[in-house]
Amino acid sequence: MSETSQTTDQTKPERPLGTVAIRWRGDRLELLDQRLLPGEERWLALDTATGVADSIRDMVVRGAPAIGISAAYGVVLAALKASEVSWREDLDGAIAELADSRPTAVNLFWALNRMQQVLGECGSLEQARQQLAAAAEQIHAEDLAANLAMADHAMSVMDEDQPFSVLTHCNTGALATGGYGTALGVIRRLHETGRLQRVYADETRPWLQGSRLTAWELERDNIPVTLNADGAAAWIMAGGDVKWVIVGADRITANGDVANKIGTYSLAVLARHHGVRFMVVAPSSTVDMALASGEAIPIEEREGTEVRQVRSEVLAPEKVAVFNPVFDVTPASLIDVIVTERGAIAQPDPAAMLRMFG
Ligand code: MRU
Repeated sequence: MSETSQTTDQTKPERPLGTVAIRWRGDRLELLDQRLLPGEERWLALDTATGVADSIRDMVVRGAPAIGISAAYGVVLAALKASEVSWREDLDGAIAELADSRPTAVNLFWALNRMQQVLGECGSLEQARQQLAAAAEQIHAEDLAANLAMADHAMSVMDEDQPFSVLTHCNTGALATGGYGTALGVIRRLHETGRLQRVYADETRPWLQGSRLTAWELERDNIPVTLNADGAAAWIMAGGDVKWVIVGADRITANGDVANKIGTYSLAVLARHHGVRFMVVAPSSTVDMALASGEAIPIEEREGTEVRQVRSEVLAPEKVAVFNPVFDVTPASLIDVIVTERGAIAQPDPAAMLRMFG
């Protein structure tokens, strides 16, 4: 992997779509290195599937949809490097390597399955190169379109007649997707339509996606954001101006259970206690109808250093045992509504999930 320009490439479409974090250049994938934000904006240029798999594992790129999109481009890079003699085996190997990068976000496996299907229909390496590139670009474009559609659906679910505040967790914005964002896309739309008072952003220990990414992304787009320690969420809800908790998802199972960033489950419990409504926003690529319930979702555990340290600063006894699951599962019974690009499901249950995703 190599480093490229130090500034981000901002497109200026009619509706601002947020900070671009994934750029496809035809022969390489450029990723905005999210490990360094907000201090430094550095792009990494990748020209191998291994580089992409490493970047997903190391959190250069993160967020379920962004992981899927990047992996799809990783398969294209593998096709560009594949040998005329063994291209099918080379590509199968690259897909397996990409699938091994992170376990929880089903968008990764969804995107790789889609690429595998395209591959299965190709008769030559040249054809595979063309068809896989087209498929990856389509996955990327569809994700942005899904985010815009989800914001439309969410607006009709929220019936408040006065501007209100919301609370969010982790980062679900343009940085985590093909643009605009899932939960953060809904929040953007509330702001665009004058319905948003303020976003409370949980800092999201231990990786600090909320403080490092969400607060940065929202400030850049002039959306009023207040950063809070995760432990302040109950007290904020008790204050009364937060009407909705709005979060993304890494995997939604057939009964409506939702895996998302660690701390999401606590927020759902708190929201129910305080009469605050709880919305999950995710594209249908996050839905895994093959799993009956959240118990079956593989939950990634990462290194203890992420909890003992903030970057290189050591904040705990060097060898203290750490439990660091980076996702949790919120039961469907605590969720008021799941919004995907296909529509909204209120009080999700197996029957409603089946009607929409069966
Ligand atoms: O570990 P991360 O940063 O990849 O976790 C991201 C989340 O949990 C997001 O909430 C989720 O992927 C949705 S992003 C639109």
